[in-house]
Amino acid sequence: MSAPFRLHLNPRHAPAPEDDPQPVILPERRAAARAAVTGFEGYRPTPLRRLEGLAASLGIGALWLKDESGRFGLGSFKSLGGAYAVVHLLHERLGDALSIAEVAAGRAGTRVRDLTVCCATDGNHGLAVAWGARRAGARCTVFLPGPVSAGRERAIASQGAAIQRVDGSYDEAVRACADEADANGWILVSDTSHAGGDEAPSRVMHGYTMLVDEIRGALAGDTPTHLFVQGGVGGLAAAVIGAFRQDAGAGSPKGVVVEPTAADCLYQSALAGEPSPASGDLDTVMACLAAAEVSPLAWRVLERGAFAFMALDDEGAVDAMRRAASPGGGDPPLVLGESGAAALGGLMAAAGDADARDALALTGTSRVLVIGSEGATDPEIYRRIVGRDPAAVAAG
Ligand SMILES: Cc1ncc(COP(=O)(O)O)c(C=O)c1O
Repeated sequence: MSAPFRLHLNPRHAPAPEDDPQPVILPERRAAARAAVTGFEGYRPTPLRRLEGLAASLGIGALWLKDESGRFGLGSFKSLGGAYAVVHLLHERLGDALSIAEVAAGRAGTRVRDLTVCCATDGNHGLAVAWGARRAGARCTVFLPGPVSAGRERAIASQGAAIQRVDGSYDEAVRACADEADANGWILVSDTSHAGGDEAPSRVMHGYTMLVDEIRGALAGDTPTHLFVQGGVGGLAAAVIGAFRQDAGAGSPKGVVVEPTAADCLYQSALAGEPSPASGDLDTVMACLAAAEVSPLAWRVLERGAFAFMALDDEGAVDAMRRAASPGGGDPPLVLGESGAAALGGLMAAAGDADARDALALTGTSRVLVIGSEGATDPEIYRRIVGRDPAAVAAG
């Protein structure tokens, strides 16, 4: 039995034109992000896992999962964007005296000590920004909406960030943060463009395109037919889908964006043909995807770039977390957090439903890539859902 979901094929989807530049995702910005991130101390590509047993049981030809649980020891892909944007924006603020690598390595010393970077977050973006600020030696203030767990707050505070709780949703925290940044001259490192302009979210998204560079490197010419990627405000999905379209043109995979049913702003935007709010109450186990409003910048990529949008009930993410922890069929056990499991959950639900298989052209020869965007970023919640310690699962 598939977990409940809704699927909407994007009527505005158009194959990537071979000779036309993609909107928003720019090759020179991708190159700048790559140069900076590969220079971070401890950088190495995260693994692309091949899951043959799971592919066979889902009735598809091949399955790869990009496993972000080990990224920089922070548990999610988010540092690729948030930490990169921090060092980029600090570097800009300082002028050209130091290279971006020197800023990232904390060599700016007293010149950044009194600068404050700030952001709003459901958890992972704040951790990434706090980590980047700490490495550079700048101050950091992170705005947390009410529902963010105490475990996630502790993780961010442990990177030296000051925490401000906002009595409201993620989108209200975004606005509160933008107001404080304005009032205090702080550097706002937003991962969405609906408050505070396009520059920071553009840099964040270009940082995320590193995922595609790493995936294409690991695939060594093999080409996926489908890509399942989770959506919060849409930045991750836009970066990954946009970069594939830029690199592979018409040969890029069909991008399916998976969101929680309770936070379906991208799905609703696709229905309406313009950025539109979520229809649900944002109460979802996929806490890092609980956004009520899309990032308009991300939407510019997704409105044509995404092949389909999927709204998945929590059950789907929970199924995928448990299945990844005990996959069977000779596959390695994987630790996927609640939001990190959404894309795999979307694939599992669609693959088990005849109409969805038809609509997405999922067949026994499909070669599917899913983004595993986080590990157990809140170990307590993970334990409650999977019934085992994440370290024990990872150890097999
Ligand atoms: C683990 C995880 N996956 C996916 C996303 C979605 O990214 P976006 O909000 O850019 O759509 C987030 C956002 O914070 C996240 O933390």
